[in-house]
Amino acid sequence: MLMGEKVDLVAAERSYVPMYTKWINDPEVTHWLKADPPFSVEMEQDWVEGVRQEGKMTFTILTKEGKPIGNMGVEEISWKARRASIGIMIGEKDYWSKGYGSDAITTLLRYLFEELGMRRVQLFTDLDNIRAQKAYKKCGFREEGVMRQFRNKDGRPVDEMFMAILADEWFEKHPRQG
Ligand SMILES: CC(C)(COP(=O)(O)OP(=O)(O)OC[C@H]1O[C@@H](n2cnc3c(N)ncnc32)[C@H](O)[C@@H]1OP(=O)(O)O)[C@@H](O)C(=O)NCCC(=O)NCCS
Repeated sequence: MLMGEKVDLVAAERSYVPMYTKWINDPEVTHWLKADPPFSVEMEQDWVEGVRQEGKMTFTILTKEGKPIGNMGVEEISWKARRASIGIMIGEKDYWSKGYGSDAITTLLRYLFEELGMRRVQLFTDLDNIRAQKAYKKCGFREEGVMRQFRNKDGRPVDEMFMAILADEWFEKHPRQG
C-alpha cells in the first residue's frame, strides 16, 4: 500500500470490479477519458487480471476511511529510459476538486521517483480538462506541448496537452532525507 495524506493506493482487485464498472460507464467521468464505453463487468474483470499479466501497474484510490473513489494506472514503463506514463480517474464525482486527485498523484510520483528510480513521468489530457491540468501542475507537472486533434469527443476532434515531470524537478521540491 502507498500512503498519502488524504488517500492510500492499493493494487486494483476483483472485489472492486462492480465499482470500476459503475465509474467507467458514467458519461460525466468518461467524458474526460480516452476510454470508449460501454464496459461490462466481465471486461473490467479481464482488465484487472490482464493488467497484472502484462506487468502494468494499477492502483485503486482509497480514502483514509477505506472507501474506493477511483483508479490510477502506470503503463508504457521503460526501465532503460527510466520513463513511465500515468493515468487517473476519480469515479466518485463527489470527491472531485477536493484535493484527493493531487494527493493520489503526489503519492504515486513519490513511489515512481523515490522507490523505482524513474527519471521522467508523463501523461496527456484533454486541452479543455482544466481541473486535471491544474491538479497535475500542483504536483509539479509542466506543459510540454499540444497534440492537435488527437481524439474525438462527442463527435468532435479534441486537442491534448502533453505534460511531464522529471526526477530533478521532483527532488527539488522533495529533497531526499538523510
Ligand atoms: C482530474 C482529477 C483526477 C483531478 O482530481 P481532483 O481531486 O478533482 O483535483 P484536485 O482537487 O486535486 O485539484 C483540482 C484543482 O482544479 C481546480 N478546478 C476544478 N475545476 C476547475 C475549473 N473548471 N477551472 C479551474 N480550476 C478548476 C480545483 O479547485 C483544484 O484547484 P485548487 O486545489 O487550487 O483549489 C479528477 O477530477 C478526475 O478524475 N476527473 C474525471 C476524470 C479525469 O478527468 N481524469 C483525468 C484524465 S487525463
